[in-house]
Amino acid sequence: MSEIAVARLASVRFNTTNLSNQAQFYTDRWGLEPAETHDGAIYFRADGPKHHVLSLHESDVNGLKSLVLEVPRGEDLEILHGRLLAAGVPVERGITSDFEAGTGLGMSCVDPDGNVVEIVTGFAKATGSYGHRDIKPQDVNHVVLESSDPARLERFYIDMLNFRLTERINGVISFYACNTNHHTVAIAQSRDEQNGLNHVAFELQDWEAWSRALYYAGERGLTRVAGPGRHGPGHNLFCYYRDEDRNVVEYTTEIEQINDDAPPIFHDDPSQFDVWKSDLGYDGRQ
Ligand SMILES: [Fe+2]
Repeated sequence: MSEIAVARLASVRFNTTNLSNQAQFYTDRWGLEPAETHDGAIYFRADGPKHHVLSLHESDVNGLKSLVLEVPRGEDLEILHGRLLAAGVPVERGITSDFEAGTGLGMSCVDPDGNVVEIVTGFAKATGSYGHRDIKPQDVNHVVLESSDPARLERFYIDMLNFRLTERINGVISFYACNTNHHTVAIAQSRDEQNGLNHVAFELQDWEAWSRALYYAGERGLTRVAGPGRHGPGHNLFCYYRDEDRNVVEYTTEIEQINDDAPPIFHDDPSQFDVWKSDLGYDGRQ
């Protein structure tokens, strides 16, 4: 089997029944910048090099539409496409150049929990100016999924997409890398047998920017779910909020960077979720 490396998480897409409110939230309160509108969807950039890190799509449901992973080359897409088909993975859209805004070639498949995974190459760069913001996230950093069958989902991300396990809190959550970032995808044991999104994390430049973000989030009345705190796995600073559709989104920074030959770490202690143990509503999962 050819080795294919997913290079990075390119972006995340949300469905929304409330496009204008969500767009206002991510622009005026979360700190992103609308980059393009295409077929009624709005694409938002961060203060980094990517064309977009988030897109919002009008729908009759709210929640995760897809996560978008980038591979370096078109031939990687061809190899992955063949691998997915051979394994019986549902391929929603075959390889096409007529994909989402800001991408070159792309295709989409469905993971064993029903999450849509887009795999793209030739992701465009940001253009134009970025408006004034008190908060400017740099990028989207990671996605955490909840699963009633984490072992099955793990096999998909490892065997199909070549993610590697970096850390596990046994029976609670596992973390997977595709580059030096400690986790680009994590899979948490579902508490209610529901599969789907736990949260999406957006990265701030450093702890000063993260601190400012938390201050202004409070000023603007964002609904804080949990935090602030610092995770054990990944060592990143975190604080969780809800957007207008109740998706949980995180401001994070200082996530650990690791070598690809680092052996995975295993824990049994759920309190590793917050080494500050600040007990500010944190439920040990998000
Ligand atoms: Fe996170």
